[in-house]
Amino acid sequence: AAGPLVLSIESSCDETAMAVTDSRGVVCASVVATQIDFHARFGGVVPEIASRKHTEAIVGVFEETLARAGAHFGVDTLVASDLAAVGVTAGPGLVGALVVGVAFAKGLCVGADLMLIAVQHLEGHLMANLFDTPDLRPPFVASLVSGGNTMLVHVRAWGDYQVLGTTIDDAVGEAFDKVAKALGLGYPGGPVISRLSAQGSPRAIRFPRAMLHSGDYSFSLSGLKTAVITYIEGENRAGRPINLPDLAASFEAAVIDVQVAKAVRAVEETGVSDFCVGGGVAANASLRAAYRGVFEKRGVRVTVPPFSACGDNAAMIGICALRSYNAGVFSPLTLDANPNAPL
Ligand code: KG4
Repeated sequence: AAGPLVLSIESSCDETAMAVTDSRGVVCASVVATQIDFHARFGGVVPEIASRKHTEAIVGVFEETLARAGAHFGVDTLVASDLAAVGVTAGPGLVGALVVGVAFAKGLCVGADLMLIAVQHLEGHLMANLFDTPDLRPPFVASLVSGGNTMLVHVRAWGDYQVLGTTIDDAVGEAFDKVAKALGLGYPGGPVISRLSAQGSPRAIRFPRAMLHSGDYSFSLSGLKTAVITYIEGENRAGRPINLPDLAASFEAAVIDVQVAKAVRAVEETGVSDFCVGGGVAANASLRAAYRGVFEKRGVRVTVPPFSACGDNAAMIGICALRSYNAGVFSPLTLDANPNAPL
């Protein structure tokens, strides 16, 4: 094995995930067990179900991760005593989901005498940019957009994060999910809406660009969601069929216009020459293209995580855990989940 190995655990929302990372940052194994099917019929993540499903899945995910890491090293399986430390997402997220991962991590640390490392989930999404762009260095501006978060961050140094602004109501991914739910398109909404939008016209329907000119870095998505739902109801009442691709493209354009305008301002105001995106919505092709379009002509490099690392995964948590491990920063066994952990 290449130096001390770190096991990382992620259970903040509806993915039970673990990974093993070696001391050079090589991901030896990464397993993601998603609960999406159990939440789909409710049109969103049900916290109590998430918690239960993590409890059911976590031992299997652990065994699978150690087996795959074993295969990486040409042995049958790793065992807990092959590890040096356990990194775990301690927040932010759903508290009942977080505690499953945190309790499992603590148990492992007690049982196999390993070091415990608390990881901030959003820092994980940020670090996912390093998979394809290992030379990414602060300072830069990052947009973190997922089902639970929408924020613009000035990364002054690793670990030195200035949150420039957040959503005052719904997160971007949440807006995708709620619009998809209103259209009966299932959960999660992001992938299906972005597939539809590729065939539609972003100018077909004019939806509001909330807070576009607010002069700050705050976002508001709930008015857009309501505007889309009102539009759908109006069309239904009038007996007109809804052009789904046009609706999806027009909704997406309204989201993207505001995201891009504020990101450009943040980059200009901070004077950085790198911009990156993280979180589930970073998988959105139109959003990626829009950022590349505006930033490339300004000489600003745009970095995105690999598609497979945009959604929740433990490999990104492993990058954070390894950094803490190398810096000698560990957590006591009294570590608790913090649903509102700040970046
Ligand atoms: O980071 P993530 O896996 O975890 C949570 O925050 O739960 O993000 C999931 C979110 C969902 O809201 C989903 O609809 C959205 O990311 N998403 C997308 C796309 N793929 C996933 N939103 C827009 N376009 C996509 N291609």
